[in-house]
Amino acid sequence: MTLMTLCVIGVGAFAQQKPAIPRDAKLEAEIEKKLAKMTLDEKIGQMLELNLDIMGAYDVNGSWQLNETMLDTLISKWKVGSILNAPGTRAATVEQWQYWIQLIQKKSMKYIGIPDIYGLDHNHGVTYTQGGTLFPQPINLAASFNTELAREGAEITAYESRAANCPWVYNPVVDLGRDARWPRIYESFGEDAIVNSKMVVAEIQGYQGDDPNHIDQYHVGTSTKHYFAYGAPWTGKDRTPAYVSPQMLREKYFEPFKAAALGGTLTMMVNSASVNGVPVHASYEYLTKWLKEDLQWDGMLVTDWADINNLFQREHVAKDKKDAVRIAINAGIDMSMDPYSVDFCILLKELVQEGKVKMERIDDAVRRILRVKYRLGLFEKPNTGGKGYEKFGSQEFAKKSLKAAEESEVLLKNEGGILPLSKQKILLTGPNANQMRCLNGGWSYTWQGSKAEDLSEAYNTIYEAFCNKFGKENVILEQGVTYHEKGAYYEENKPEIEKAVKAAAQADIIVACVGENSYTETPGNLSDLWLSANQRNLVKELAKAGKPIVLVLNEGRPRLIADIEPLAKAVVNILIPGNYGADALANLLAGDVNFSAKMPYTYPREINSLNTYDYKVSEEVGTMAGAYNYDAKVSLQWPFGYGLSYTTFEYSNLRVDKKEFGTDDVLTVSVDVKNTGSKAGKEAVLLYSSDLVASIVPDNKRLRDFTKIDLQSGEQKTVTFRLPAKDLAFVGESGKWTLEEGDFVLKIGNQTTSVVCTQTKVWETPNIQ
Ligand code: BGC
Repeated sequence: MTLMTLCVIGVGAFAQQKPAIPRDAKLEAEIEKKLAKMTLDEKIGQMLELNLDIMGAYDVNGSWQLNETMLDTLISKWKVGSILNAPGTRAATVEQWQYWIQLIQKKSMKYIGIPDIYGLDHNHGVTYTQGGTLFPQPINLAASFNTELAREGAEITAYESRAANCPWVYNPVVDLGRDARWPRIYESFGEDAIVNSKMVVAEIQGYQGDDPNHIDQYHVGTSTKHYFAYGAPWTGKDRTPAYVSPQMLREKYFEPFKAAALGGTLTMMVNSASVNGVPVHASYEYLTKWLKEDLQWDGMLVTDWADINNLFQREHVAKDKKDAVRIAINAGIDMSMDPYSVDFCILLKELVQEGKVKMERIDDAVRRILRVKYRLGLFEKPNTGGKGYEKFGSQEFAKKSLKAAEESEVLLKNEGGILPLSKQKILLTGPNANQMRCLNGGWSYTWQGSKAEDLSEAYNTIYEAFCNKFGKENVILEQGVTYHEKGAYYEENKPEIEKAVKAAAQADIIVACVGENSYTETPGNLSDLWLSANQRNLVKELAKAGKPIVLVLNEGRPRLIADIEPLAKAVVNILIPGNYGADALANLLAGDVNFSAKMPYTYPREINSLNTYDYKVSEEVGTMAGAYNYDAKVSLQWPFGYGLSYTTFEYSNLRVDKKEFGTDDVLTVSVDVKNTGSKAGKEAVLLYSSDLVASIVPDNKRLRDFTKIDLQSGEQKTVTFRLPAKDLAFVGESGKWTLEEGDFVLKIGNQTTSVVCTQTKVWETPNIQ
């Protein structure tokens, strides 16, 4: 037995820096010099971001061609400062990106003397660059509870983006996926604020490198998005209003954005929808006060897609576009992603001339935009790529993606130790058994991840990975249900369940791969959270064959399966594991690699039980004595943080250095974890706290920190968390961070210990630093 001590530094440690990024005096002087020479037209042009699509057209061969004359006009006349997106939202080659972006930079330097900042949704790898590396989606990284995997993946994406001459990515996403119905759950790190906060800090470091003032040619700027509470739509549908209590807004939804600001994210993208009736694009309070003033964040705020237009077209808080521009810019928007029009320039100029937008606001916005461009080194080196980027799409990067997938697929059930699979004849069935699209999800070669199978041919579907691992002769493929590839993501072809049932007779075990096809944003809205009727029927009919069923879930959000889960002996949720997700699954099911992931969100059992793990204590109460049976149930399929392994871990000796603590103290919390099984394995160690009595109804528990350790069979390690008392605070009725005297319980694994806070403190600063 070896004994090792690990010390985990909580996100609280990052909260020490203020302002977020220490300013570089030389760089700031350059910005001022440049700003002083710019005309109003030049300044306003910097504040506009256009879609590349409008600068070209498809030729007779169906190939998109950049129209140089058009580009010339847009840059010389309108002085456009930024361009985004891939033509037709389909991945281009490195060479195409090199050609297009170099031309844009040439014209930008010629006509404005300021480089363009090109942005792409390189969300889980280089979405829009062919031949690059795609990683598991962020929800998988969250399930791995391994921040180092997130950092590494981001660093590789940065490198490959720069190889394609792109210096800016619209990632990470830290919206908190707290509503199971929302179509973008998988793009975030799940439902918890701490998981999102730690992951975003790790990714920002991976993307941007160690010095946000001087980002080198292998790193990129981030746009942490979508600020904020985008993942809390009341209807569950994309871009619809959220109603969130002021406490929850600051205490949970704001936290990862705060961590991102303090972690140095160069830019942020704003939530398209409204929070408590206020469209975030129109909120001075949230954009300027909370971010730019309270946090002293000096980065740049970009709108989401055409969202200034949405202030009058969708949200009805502005009477026309000019009114919308006035509201958004005065609220604190620095750059307008107005994909198809230059009207913004005309209207903003009029507003400045009419005194409705002050020159200081324009200067502030442009200063922030220039700061990003200087920090990215674009003035000195507007182009990157070519020599020095030989690792693009390499095996070295592929291995990292495979490892991330292996650490992110969650074993949820393994009755009688039916897994790992032994030498058996396997029936592989279900719509997700033999296509790449569902393994990669949205933002994979195309926006919706659809119509791109030609670009992912080199990778293995589950069927192909199974044939490689278990031998083609041992794998029967009969899907029973298939997706209608040309339709909406939820459309399925006429089922052929009887064929699968017939094939089951030849098999020893059934592996049913069910879930969802790829989607994102509004096309991913749903009307029913249950897994499709066809897919559930498939499992029900197969169960009658009497062969054991392994259910593989491959889905972007938790689709209800309460009626078929009992029919399966084993369940694995692979979430959306990327190009190597099927290979990872085969390695895991064969037992060559051990499972180590845990659920990054709460998996509901019932449609009327869409809880998160940190529900209020009064959301679950037993039956009351007497005539009135007041009760409430939290009905879960699997809780947040749940996940099995082929080995077992025993927790013991939870200890804390202070049984009583004051509000400025730091607690040291330790626990011993031992691998008591016969296989090596990794364990995500999660530290929770419960505030037993508080002046507003307390959450039943809250995650405070986590880490992941590696243990050989029989090995024991001591994990130590550093927990500042202020991390136990909540946002009180006054809207201020509050820590109250009283009892707390700390919990790790099955271990608990009580501690007492001896003081009460209300922080006057809106954000504890
Ligand atoms: C999405 C963003 C994305 C942007 C640019 C929007 O529709 O909401 O996440 O970054 O488009 O493609």
